[in-house]
Amino acid sequence: MSSSPSGFGNSPARPLGVTDLITERPPMAAARLGDNVAMTSVAIVTGASSGIGAATARRLAAEGFHVLVAARRAERLTELVAEITAAGGQATAVTCDITSDESVAGLAEAAAAAPGPVTLLVNNAGGARGLDPVESGSIADWQWMYDVNVLGTLRVTQALLPALEASGSGTIVVVSSTAGLTVYEGGGGYTAAKHAQTAIAGTLRLELCGRPLRVIEIDPGMVKTDEFGLVRFEGDAERAAAVYAGVPGPLVAEDVADCIAWCATRPEHVNIDRLVVRPRAQAAQHKVREPGLRAPQSRTKQHSEARGVSRVCEPRSREQRGQ
Ligand SMILES: NC(=O)c1ccc[n+]([C@@H]2O[C@H](COP(=O)([O-])OP(=O)(O)OC[C@H]3O[C@@H](n4cnc5c(N)ncnc54)[C@H](OP(=O)(O)O)[C@@H]3O)[C@@H](O)[C@H]2O)c1
Repeated sequence: MSSSPSGFGNSPARPLGVTDLITERPPMAAARLGDNVAMTSVAIVTGASSGIGAATARRLAAEGFHVLVAARRAERLTELVAEITAAGGQATAVTCDITSDESVAGLAEAAAAAPGPVTLLVNNAGGARGLDPVESGSIADWQWMYDVNVLGTLRVTQALLPALEASGSGTIVVVSSTAGLTVYEGGGGYTAAKHAQTAIAGTLRLELCGRPLRVIEIDPGMVKTDEFGLVRFEGDAERAAAVYAGVPGPLVAEDVADCIAWCATRPEHVNIDRLVVRPRAQAAQHKVREPGLRAPQSRTKQHSEARGVSRVCEPRSREQRGQ
């Protein structure tokens, strides 16, 4: 059985773009249940009011899911639902704060009332605050990052697991980060939180083995979204923009949505454990290709590297590294 919401065969998902949303109706979305009634599969996306979450919601709707879009900003969600509906898709807005037990219980209720089996949860809500060294990091920033990225993922996953399992084939996606795989100066709080999210995904996959559930971790590198940097730098647009300045081709939200949709629509026996996706210009967290810089002679390169500096790819300034 395919994990495509259409439930018809294992044809690979083709990459959809924004144009597809405008010009094409999504495929008929249906999941075969025990009683042979075809029903629309339901996907839940947290943090759907902006960036990667909004792009993922649009993409999953285009793939035929009925998408529950969850975040705190209700107005944004209403606009997104209108946009998806106008494009021929199906979506429902659920105002939800993933740091609140009560609010997440409301999300689970909305899922129970949705028009089909809940087969996909995308734990995307999260973010970074600050870029201070551990020595002077703000406890409040660390607390926020832990609450949203780690405990938010835990809370939502716990609340939705029964519905995902009851569907007969559930998929849990955790949007962590390359910051969940490595550390960088100034990123202590964020990398700690993302490492914890990565640990949740790995642990959950082990614990759920043998049940009709799979766990997929998505680790993006640098993604140019409107709000990630603004949240990190308390609304300082200049600092936020500097993160992407001069970087040729950072990822955009739709690139990550594409990865999520591809993983989630593989046949149900296929578990993509972890997908790491970076822009071509970013070989590592600290190594971003600057436009116009040519590869130096090997002697020079060795000499540069001995000093911890690469002329091929200048290390970004401290403020420009973390995703
Ligand atoms: N941008 C990057 O370079 C990058 C790279 C790797 C990984 N990531 C990860 O990808 C995810 C999305 O990032 P993004 O770039 O799309 O950032 P974004 O545009 O700032 O999106 C963050 C989303 O999380 C939601 N959110 C925050 N706190 C919440 C809460 N308490 N309850 C419910 N929702 C909450 C926000 O909605 P409301 O404010 O409306 O609640 C927003 O929709 C994050 O987990 C981030 O860590 C981003």
